[in-house]
Amino acid sequence: MDRVELGNSGIKVSRIGLGMWQAGGKNWGKDVNDRDCVAAMVRAQERGVNLIDTAEVYGEGHSEEVVGRAVRQIGRDNVVLATKVAGYHMRERDVERACRASLRRLGVKEIDLYQVHWPDPWDQVPFAEGFRALERLWKRGLVRAIGVSNFAVRDLEDARARLRAADIVANQVRYNLLQTEIEAEVLPYCRQERITVLAWSPLAQGVLADTYRVGRVPRDSIRKQNDLFSPKNLREAGKLLRALRKVAKAHRRNVAQVALNALSKDPIVVPIPGAKRPSQAEENAAAVSFDLTPAERRAIEAAAQSTRVETF
Ligand SMILES: NC(=O)c1ccc[n+]([C@@H]2O[C@H](COP(=O)([O-])OP(=O)(O)OC[C@H]3O[C@@H](n4cnc5c(N)ncnc54)[C@H](OP(=O)(O)O)[C@@H]3O)[C@@H](O)[C@H]2O)c1
Repeated sequence: MDRVELGNSGIKVSRIGLGMWQAGGKNWGKDVNDRDCVAAMVRAQERGVNLIDTAEVYGEGHSEEVVGRAVRQIGRDNVVLATKVAGYHMRERDVERACRASLRRLGVKEIDLYQVHWPDPWDQVPFAEGFRALERLWKRGLVRAIGVSNFAVRDLEDARARLRAADIVANQVRYNLLQTEIEAEVLPYCRQERITVLAWSPLAQGVLADTYRVGRVPRDSIRKQNDLFSPKNLREAGKLLRALRKVAKAHRRNVAQVALNALSKDPIVVPIPGAKRPSQAEENAAAVSFDLTPAERRAIEAAAQSTRVETF
């Protein structure tokens, strides 16, 4: 699989990554288990995926532990490890403590991409404090690159201004064919500044895998809160799914693969679909191994534009 550079970091990642929130545990559904998650990571790596994303908050550290198990099988040098410090851990003393705890759970000496999970709206720790603490970890070699997540342009600019020698190399944000808000400001800014956009929920948590319908929705605690699964939104998503099915049939691919392929047309965007088992990881890894025609891209874009889900 082709590789792209994470910002200007020199770190090369596959065009499709792998999200491991799922390895946090049963809040993603009864069918989640550690063994399948490890197998999913191993399979993804065998199919060319080298970027694995996790976070200290996923299953309160459990996801990082499961990722650590997979890394021991895969080999440390064969994986780019991305994890996140929670927004509420941005006090100077907390940043280092959180980083060391993640390193321990992952069983590694260095995190490749350390991301601030969200700009914290409650404690309002000044960016100067948190980002300088991150920069110190970077200088000491505990993290190879600094990233953020869910940052608007104003947050990105503020955070970058606090860093003296390092720069932000990636912004992880929600981005899928149904939820395209970042196209207005964040994506153009990141493109201009060469900051990689890691697209979370690139499959709209399964809606764009064509799995769910009105009356057949996931019951897990995470997706119960996601209003993408409301009857109104699912009916609306049907318009886009019809277009995706048509293209998928022509390429003998599945709908999830077409949705991921369409999202990753610009190499500044790297989708990180979550997977619960090896078969999903394998399918998603193969999502960029075929080319959509310009007409197919236009048809998907037109369908996406005329599909209007209402989520917050
Ligand atoms: N930074 C943030 O704030 C943030 C927020 C959310 C997520 N993330 C990261 O982004 C990653 C991906 O986002 P996400 O997990 O929310 O959503 P997603 O990738 O859009 O959806 C993942 C779900 O889709 C289904 N799926 C995946 N591949 C499939 C396939 N080939 N065929 C059919 N179904 C498939 C699986 O659920 P079922 O099989 O149960 O349907 C899977 O759990 C996460 O794992 C996490 O690392 C970050």
